[in-house]
Amino acid sequence: MNIGIFDSGIGGMTLLHQAMVLMPHENYIFYADTDHVPYGTKTREQVISYVDEVIRFMAEHDCKAVVIACNTATAVAAELMRSRYESLPIIGIEPAVKPAVAESRGKRVLVVATPLTVHEKRLRKLVERVDDAHLVDLLELPGLVEFAERGEFVSDSVTAYLRERLSGYVLEHYRELVLGCTHFNYFKDTFRVLMPPQVHMIDGSLGTVRQLMRVLHARHELLEPLPETDADWEQVKNGICVRYYESGREITDAARLSTIRQLHERLENMRKI
Ligand code: DGL
Repeated sequence: MNIGIFDSGIGGMTLLHQAMVLMPHENYIFYADTDHVPYGTKTREQVISYVDEVIRFMAEHDCKAVVIACNTATAVAAELMRSRYESLPIIGIEPAVKPAVAESRGKRVLVVATPLTVHEKRLRKLVERVDDAHLVDLLELPGLVEFAERGEFVSDSVTAYLRERLSGYVLEHYRELVLGCTHFNYFKDTFRVLMPPQVHMIDGSLGTVRQLMRVLHARHELLEPLPETDADWEQVKNGICVRYYESGREITDAARLSTIRQLHERLENMRKI
């Protein structure tokens, strides 16, 4: 059986990549809903109907679990999908606000995400629950999703966009930057240059994969025992079984698959920052 992982686009590969190094023996389906990307500037109703279509696809493609590798889709649709697909474990990614606040030692926490995630009740409630000292600020960065989908990860335009969006913040007051959209991991090198050295970056992908492993373990559905550490990407990357889909159409074209391999290489580099 497969582990299904999906996002509106290439952002979800952050989570797929993390799952691949922790569980290289599993079989994966990765689904990018490119017909509907971006999700973050759509309405809740639109995103709910897209997510429903993807989860139905996963259920029909022999998936033992589905990961919503999209903070936006999790925020608006995870609970509803769990009630619709009761027998299928559905795991969602959330901005890592709780660990960020715990690590911030009294300094500020900046959570960057899509407009829909920032305005959703789910994130607001999470912040209310963990942010007693009112240290958390929320910032929308929809432009990064567009840059990522164009394959533009490092450029003067990316830097100028981020500089402009961050210009209203005294960055020296911050200790944690929460990457609350899976597309944002592709830009960690630029964030690293723009943020003061004391700012630590965190995202929810590792925690979500660990949750996925716990769920599969509890259901006796892990192909190999729980791993202690990540596998070495160089050693495992060619042996992992993944099928890639774009809005339901399998990607078989050699040029597209080669681009996907390059995205994994970039994500491997970003993981080390
Ligand atoms: N990557 C997604 C997220 O984590 C959504 C990006 C988008 O489609 O707007 O929120």
